[in-house]
Amino acid sequence: MSDAFQAVQVTDRVYWVGARDWEIREFHGYATGRGTTYNAFLVLADKVTLVDTVKKPFRREMMARIASVVDPKRIDYIISNHSEMDHSGSLVETIEAVRPEKVFASANGVKALEAHFHLGGGIEAVTNGSTLSLGNRHVTFVETKMLHWPDSMVSYLAEEKILFSQDAFGQHLASDRLWADEIPQHILYEEAAKYYANILLPFSPLVAKTVPALKAMNLALDVLAPDHGPLYRRDLLWIVDLYEKWAARKPTRKAVVVYDTMWESDTAMAKAVAEGLAAGGAEPVRVLPMRSANRSDVAAEILEAGALVVGSPTINNQIFPTLADVLCYLEGLKPKNLVGAAFGSYGWSGEAVAKLEEWLRRMGVRLVAEAVKVRYVPDSEALAQCRALGEKVGGEVRKACGDE
Ligand code: FEO
Repeated sequence: MSDAFQAVQVTDRVYWVGARDWEIREFHGYATGRGTTYNAFLVLADKVTLVDTVKKPFRREMMARIASVVDPKRIDYIISNHSEMDHSGSLVETIEAVRPEKVFASANGVKALEAHFHLGGGIEAVTNGSTLSLGNRHVTFVETKMLHWPDSMVSYLAEEKILFSQDAFGQHLASDRLWADEIPQHILYEEAAKYYANILLPFSPLVAKTVPALKAMNLALDVLAPDHGPLYRRDLLWIVDLYEKWAARKPTRKAVVVYDTMWESDTAMAKAVAEGLAAGGAEPVRVLPMRSANRSDVAAEILEAGALVVGSPTINNQIFPTLADVLCYLEGLKPKNLVGAAFGSYGWSGEAVAKLEEWLRRMGVRLVAEAVKVRYVPDSEALAQCRALGEKVGGEVRKACGDE
């Protein structure tokens, strides 16, 4: 009787042997509302080769998929494109089970795998641009350092015209569909953007160099195969061009309001700010209350935004903890070309607004409107000031986009 888990043919000699994680909702701080996949690929060349493995709990699923097309002990080579444990977590057990002739990684990958698993050697380093013969197939390695780890590389299997791009061009999306063209476009866009914002945004200057360099190689390409989410077989440039667009971090008129509240004063202020933003010319305007939004949703919204307005009550002389969380996260993602402002309610000391402004300045956000501070509960006049703050920021983001 065959196993429940079967390999899925990708090209003539390449099979998907990864795993679907329908369950995961938190991926080191990233809210994965649609789950994810850990893609691994089996190349049935003269030298049978496994490209990447899966997160540790999913090893059985991967091995069963491999066994559906070939005896796993026939695997000659394993290629590790990226050492993070969602791809290498089952590497050691897989090596023990199949006893491959060789395991390959980039030079930094060899060091990273050693630092993770303390193997005492045994992984062979490949150099940037080198080609490995699998007999009747050939794989070329291209380092993509810091996209998004120092070890990262992609592998190109020329005869099958497939690029194994590891995390690059991926998304956290579990689906019964293998191919991107079988998934609604708005879901693809949303998840690809969220993935870029949360994983690749801080490395945008490198993406801006690496993606054009990959394009300039003029690789004959039928399939783009990332390590997460669907694979691309049609309109491959769709995702590649999006990466170039996102890497440029060109501001748009989109504005994001992020706030939290104790007794709804900041909710009322946020709503007034949002009305003003729209009236001033920002579009679209997204309002994210941190009692319900996840930091990774905020990052996704910031990706194409030109304005960020933040609000917090003062609590124990500080900003609200959820604001500290999201600002710490956003600061690390290094968004660029934002204008912004701050607002907040307070009871007696009122430090939050100054602390928010300090944080925005540190992030390089250009403050373009005087902050609004309200004691206890905003009256009509205070809400009008919030609306005026929004209008000012809306006007500035319109100007920043060259729309007078
Ligand atoms: Fe999907 Fe950076 O690991």
